[in-house]
Amino acid sequence: MNKFELKNTPQWQNLEKHYLSIRKTHLRELFENENRFNTFSIRENNLGITFDYSKNIINSDTFKLLMEFVKTAMVNEYAKKMFSGEKINWTEKRAVLHTALRNRSNTPICVDGKNVMIEINEVLNKMKKFSNDLRSGEWLGVTGKKITDVVNIGIGGSDLGPKMVCEALKYYAVGPNVHFVSNIDGADMYEVLKKLNPETTLFIVASKTFTTLETITNALTARNWLTVKLGDKAVKNHFIALSTNTKKVIEFGIDEKNMFIFWDFVGGRYSLWSAIGLSIACYLGFDKFVEFLEGASCIDSHFLNTPYEKNIPIIMAALGFWYNNFFGASSYAVLPYSQYLHKFPVYLQQVDMESNGKTVNFEGDRVDYETGPIIWGESGTNGQHSFYQLIHHGTKFIPCDFIGFVNPPERVGDHHEKLMANYFVQGEALAFGLSKDEVIENLRKAGVSLPDIKVLTPHKIFEGNKPVNSILFDELTPKTLGALIALYEHKIFAQGIMWRVNSFDQWGVELGKVLANIILPELKAQADNKHDNSTKNLIKIFNSHKK
Ligand code: F6P
Repeated sequence: MNKFELKNTPQWQNLEKHYLSIRKTHLRELFENENRFNTFSIRENNLGITFDYSKNIINSDTFKLLMEFVKTAMVNEYAKKMFSGEKINWTEKRAVLHTALRNRSNTPICVDGKNVMIEINEVLNKMKKFSNDLRSGEWLGVTGKKITDVVNIGIGGSDLGPKMVCEALKYYAVGPNVHFVSNIDGADMYEVLKKLNPETTLFIVASKTFTTLETITNALTARNWLTVKLGDKAVKNHFIALSTNTKKVIEFGIDEKNMFIFWDFVGGRYSLWSAIGLSIACYLGFDKFVEFLEGASCIDSHFLNTPYEKNIPIIMAALGFWYNNFFGASSYAVLPYSQYLHKFPVYLQQVDMESNGKTVNFEGDRVDYETGPIIWGESGTNGQHSFYQLIHHGTKFIPCDFIGFVNPPERVGDHHEKLMANYFVQGEALAFGLSKDEVIENLRKAGVSLPDIKVLTPHKIFEGNKPVNSILFDELTPKTLGALIALYEHKIFAQGIMWRVNSFDQWGVELGKVLANIILPELKAQADNKHDNSTKNLIKIFNSHKK
């Protein structure tokens, strides 16, 4: 069979040719068309989202060619397979159904002849009862005290999603305090436990496999901390498990009644919609958790049913592909202008980079083009005083997503207007820059001498032409946060299909899990080890200098 050559397809070749003709065009020039915002923006009224992608280096031909590429890649056909429970994660022979977890219309979805909605709804009801009981005091600690603190112990998808959401929506919190411990570094657990009282603390052990070294080590430490003070009988009131692995949960000593299941069709990095979201439901109340699911569900319908040309995740995916594969942009900045969303870029790193950090295509061949970009970012305006210098003036080409909110949940003086002034002006400056003439004029007006103007001018010019997507929500609510996450999930899905990679396995991470377990005994004993010369000597130093 001939190898599939994506770069030789007419759709790729057309983009390549077109790139050569447009790559030097400046956004200033593209904006000579007065109607550009109308042409290249989308407003979704039911969620209050405005998506402005007019500050991208595209014209109507680019857009047409990108949409042709998406069409030929059959993104919508693959999306339908995913939503209907086909086993599109073929290397693990699994369906990919995080969308079923927020299927608010409750239409049956079958995997291996079984309607998964039945168990999904059962678990949701169990989450509702548990989170209500915890908040009302129906569920008490072993000494009869109300739970004031919940500690989620998990890592990767069993940590990042719930942690980010609890932080993003803390304005709406009505439940106990939530804490997150993920790192196997004892400092993480130590710093959380030192503030807590075992009588009023509940541990949620979140692990899809219930075998992850970090999580199990942390859970054992937490259990020890609890039982030393309250005895073994305390485990049943103070430990909850979220997992797909009932056997391991029972072996750990957690009662099956205190376990919330999920399924192998939920990928770790897509699991915040499942029982893994229990800490969110406890913190915000179950109704808000449902609103969160509803927001994502609205985007699911939008993604499945909207023509490509008006489909926000599709356009986000196509633009990312445009810069990644033609402009050579190896990284992508995500910049939320909301302190509540300061953990969003880190959360997104796992979703995007664990999904599309792949080199092997559908056919099992090594790709000869770039796949997933490096995702990074920080909340505005903190990032402005750190790395924006490089985005504006550095030699790297970095497309950016600016995420903002018209109405923040809180109102503190005129902070929000000042924050959003930065949101608007930074997008504008990145796109349009500051020309030589403008710089000279500004310096002259400021009374700078002619010789100084000559010296300063080259340093003060902003080339601009840095692409910016502006994602502007009317409000930050559980519903809109659910929608925002789902937008990115589907963007990443669409890009995976365009790059022809499996976005749902993570063999690159699995190797690390296995290797850490092999090396561990060598750090405990002084045994000679068979590693390469560098690792062998590092381990030797670790062992001989250990106090
Ligand atoms: O990092 C790899 C990974 O498998 C993630 O996908 C997952 O979220 C994380 O490890 C934790 O795994 P588990 O939930 O099984 O403890």
